[in-house]
Formats: sequence, structure tokens, C-alpha cells
Amino acid sequence: MKYIVVSGGVISGIGKGVIASSTGLLLKTLGLRVTSIKIDPYMNIDAGTMAPTEHGEVFVLNDGGEVDLDLGNYERYLNVTLSRDNNITTGKIYREVIEKERRGDYLGKTVQIVPHLTNAIQDWIERVSLLPVDETGETPDVCIIELGGTVGDIESAPFVEALRQFQFRVGQDNFALIHVSLVPVIGGEQKTKPTQAAIRDLRGLGLVPDMIAARCATPLDHAVINKLSMFCHVGPNQVLGVHDVNSTYHVPLLLEQQGMVKFFERRLNLDLSRDVSAPMKEKGLELRRRWKELTSAQERTVDRVEIVLVGKYTSLQDSYISVVKALEHASLRCQRKLVLKWVESSDLEPQAETDRPVEYHQAWQHLCSAKGIIVPGGFGKRGTEGMITAARWAREKKIPFFGICLGFQVAVVEFARNVCGMFDAGSEELDDDCKDPVVVYMPEISRTHLGGTMRLGLRPTLFSDESKEWSKIRSLYGNEPTIWERHRHRYEINPEKVTTIENTRDSVSGSLKFIGRNEKGERMQVAELTDHPYFVGMQAHPELASRPLNPSPPFLGLVAAAAGLLDEQMELQSKQYTPPHPKSSMILESEASSKEP
Ligand SMILES: *[C@@H]1O[C@H](CO)[C@@H](O)[C@H](O)[C@H]1NC(C)=O
Ligand SMILES: *[C@@H]1O[C@H](CO)[C@@H](O)[C@H](O)[C@H]1NC(C)=O
Repeated sequence: MKYIVVSGGVISGIGKGVIASSTGLLLKTLGLRVTSIKIDPYMNIDAGTMAPTEHGEVFVLNDGGEVDLDLGNYERYLNVTLSRDNNITTGKIYREVIEKERRGDYLGKTVQIVPHLTNAIQDWIERVSLLPVDETGETPDVCIIELGGTVGDIESAPFVEALRQFQFRVGQDNFALIHVSLVPVIGGEQKTKPTQAAIRDLRGLGLVPDMIAARCATPLDHAVINKLSMFCHVGPNQVLGVHDVNSTYHVPLLLEQQGMVKFFERRLNLDLSRDVSAPMKEKGLELRRRWKELTSAQERTVDRVEIVLVGKYTSLQDSYISVVKALEHASLRCQRKLVLKWVESSDLEPQAETDRPVEYHQAWQHLCSAKGIIVPGGFGKRGTEGMITAARWAREKKIPFFGICLGFQVAVVEFARNVCGMFDAGSEELDDDCKDPVVVYMPEISRTHLGGTMRLGLRPTLFSDESKEWSKIRSLYGNEPTIWERHRHRYEINPEKVTTIENTRDSVSGSLKFIGRNEKGERMQVAELTDHPYFVGMQAHPELASRPLNPSPPFLGLVAAAAGLLDEQMELQSKQYTPPHPKSSMILESEASSKEP
């Protein structure tokens, strides 16, 4: 196993995650199997209880782990399926060490940061890096470890020390370090001082950079590369300039052009002719070809597609990062430039007209000119009436619409209120004494504990037989009878109201049919309008499984419908849809028990 650590200096938020995942992608194009681990030096045990406005989106994995959004980056770039153990937080490591101490595993010795905590970190990395992450089910060859924060922080000190020891544990040939740094441009001049200081800090802690990835607004000058090489004590070929590019999909090629692959082949002693089988090599080449095609097609694209996102945390756009990525993937497939307009849902409510008239009118202007509307997930009451208004607008004006999780629930509430005449229809989540709850608390979930009490992870959805005749979403999923998506919710559509809702017909938009349900048929997971260009709601979060080369079907449907390409894309999907999950994670319970000896 080869380990490549990606650490950061100067400041955080300069694209360490993208550089790490691009490095992984490049190694994948050689035919290697790549996995990744993200180290988060904060004390939270999991990201699930952190507010989205604080930390960006919560990413959910197949196994139900709620993790940092950076793991999403790896899954998207590397087309892998990670597990909850692939992210390490300080809290998690401390908990492990303290539990061991309580059990008496340390035999009464004094338990210390060095060696007990640092050993626990190294053991964790070694154990997790061996877990299979793709459809081959085999042990990965390379593990990319991203160290969050910046080197020199108090928080990351135990991890830096653990990695320093780790290079000796696994051997020099199996360990390399990329340090991501910043070269600011001041008065037109590229400044190298911050990077010099960052590298000095790094060396002072016992880590030697094999490669310096210098982030800069403009391409690095040769003189600057030479200067960095001299003052940071590395060869000029070990300094890579990573300037701002039009899209992050260009970063892998940018790194490749500067000889990253060749460098690691030598540095890590990779013998590709011996270690990589012919089919894997073939796959790697195919991946490289498709990725290049993707980026060059993106450069050529001029037509635009406008999508309006009606959400709640629009002030922090990171909280919808996967949704935005999924829309981007879909637009790439449709060869359109994505133009995303953000609408804060509470700005659509009547109250806003008097409180914030400018925002109110702007929000409505965006909505009225929308070619496609998306309402993503969220929690809590604020702004939901605005989402209901947006769903109504989309339904009545026949504008392509996609509602995710909460967005799905509000679309159902809207239909119940305005078509079925259930004027008091609402959600228990939003209104404690709702008279006519269309959305209810899931019976098996505890009301009192907030952390870890949700329906989480990869779940199957079974389509109804009759949906085969007409459903657009089903045909986008390649007409598969069963699909798998990740869930994260506490509330669900009230099963008692389903018959009433399904049996009411609207003269404009038709009926709202719950065509996708869980394996027992009691939980509503996909709904679609019968007489509408594209109106789909899903309880799951399909954005979490979207890939640049394999866009998520409901997003593809929305973007294609907005661009007038829906029929074409449905045709294409029926031939080439591939689920993004390995077969081993898609096993129905009934099948699992019948397989047992
Ligand atoms: C970015 O896009 C613009 C216009 O689409 C193009 O002219 C330019 O060359 C692109 N830059 C890079 C670095 O690809
Ligand atoms: C991505 O992974 C899935 C499941 O592991 C696999 O079926 C699919 O072929 C992969 N796609 C690419 C482009 O490698």
C-alpha cells in the first residue's frame, strides 16, 4: 500500500480537497485502485449534528455515516464508495483511546498523546486504507490522506506527529507528501514568502514535502518556481503551479501536464507493468480518455441552462454543494453551461413583500423566469411556505421541477392543499398541532434524541408496475424496477393520506402518483405528476451519488427538461444507465436471507 498525504499551509480553503482528489484520479488513470481518508482535526464525533450554515453540507454514505463534505469530493472524482471509517476526527480518536483506557487495555500505564494517541491514529489509517471501495471488491493500491486545517495549528499537532512516525512505519518508498500552499499576487507580483514559511514549519515538525502544490491566481512564473525550489529545498520538478482554472475538472490535467504522474511513479517505486493487470490498465486509459473529453467538451459549451434553486441556507452555498455538483454533472452531459440562480425561500412569502420588498421582488423575478426549479432538502420551519409557493408555481405553470427530501414533502403538501382540498394539510415537522398532517414522524424513530436518530444510508426504492408505462423518472433510471439511493430523514409522507392524494386529479397537471416505495411498500419515496413536462419528488438524496461521468438521473431529467432535451436523454439513459454503487452494497434483505446457507 502506498500512502500520499496532502497537507496544507498558509491558509485553509485553497482547494486542498480538489488537489488531493485530482491526484487520486491521476493515479486511477494508471489503472491503480485508489482509496482515501480525510482527517478532520475538530472534536465533533460526527458531522451529523453540525449546523449546515456552520460547516456546509452533511454528506451521507452508503453505510449511513454522516461525514464531512470533502468525502463527497473523493467519491465523485474517484468513483468509489467510502465508509464511515474513512473520516477521522479528533473526537473519534480520543474516544477510542479513552474507551481502551477504561477497559484497561493499557495495563495501568500513563496514557499519553505520544505514543498512545498517535499510535491509535496510525493503526486507524492502516486498517481503513485496506477496505475495498469499488466494484472489484479488492484491496486498494494507493491511499490518499487529506489532513484538514493547516499544519502548525494546535488542533492538527497530534496528527502531524502521527504522520511523521507513520513514514517510518510504512517505509520511505510507500509514503509521499504533497503540501498545498498559497502564492498570493500582490501588485502583480507573485509572493513566495508565505510558502517558504509554511515549508519551514512543516520541516520543523519532521515532515519533508515531496511536492509543493502552489495555489495562485495566475500561472506561476518560471522564476518563481525556481525561487520556491531554492528556498524550500526541493527540485524545480517538485513545485507544481495550480492556478485558478475555469472549472475544477481541469485540475487533474493541469497536474498531469507538470509531470505529477511521472514523479510519483519514480518516488513511490511503482512498477506498473508488474503491479497493474491488463484489464485495469485498460480501464485507466478509458477513464483518462473520458475525463479529457469531458473537460474539452466543457470548454466548447456556449449554450446556457438556467436553474433556480429555492432553498434555506442560500447564505452559505456550501450547504448545497452536492446538489450544485449534481446539477453541474447533468449540465455537462447535456452540453449546457449551468447558470444557477439562488432564491432564499422565505423571500417568496407574502410577509417579505412588506419586510424586504427588494428581495421579495427579485426572488419572484427569478422564479417567474425559471426554466427549471429545484427545491433541495433542509430542516425546520423557516421558509417552507415559500417552498410550497415555488412548488405550486412549477406545477401550475408546467415548469420542470425536482424536489428532494423536504422539497419532495412540500410538493406533496402543496398538492394536498391546492388540488385535494385539504386546506389544513401540513407537516408535523413544521407545525406541532397540524390538523391534517400529510407528513408525519416515522414511527420507529425516537423523538427526544437528535443525534443519530434518522433513517440513514443506502436504501432500495421499488417502482410500481404501472409506472413503466409513463414515468419519466423511471426511464431515466434505465427502467430498472429497483433503484438505490441514500436517505437521511426523520419524517415521511403519511401513508393514510396516500390513497386520497393519488385519486385526486387536477385538470392542468394530472395526478400525483407515488410510484416509488420502500421494499415493504409502506414508505413513499418517489412521486411524479402524470401530466407535466417534468415534476418529480424524491425522499432520498440522489445528489450524493452523482458523478461527473455518470450524472444522477433525476438531476439529469431536470436539466434536460429545462434545456428541451428530455426525450433524447431518456433514450440515452435507457441504453447506458449504470448504478454508481458497487453490487455488494445493493442487496435486498429478502435476497440476503435466501442466500444464507
Ligand atoms: C476559460 O474560459 C474562457 C471562455 O470560456 C476561455 O477563453 C479560456 O481560455 C478558459 N481558460 C482556461 C484556463 O481554460
Ligand atoms: C463507477 O463505479 C460503479 C460501481 O462501483 C461501476 O459500476 C462503474 O462502472 C464505475 N464507473 C466508471 C466510469 O468507472
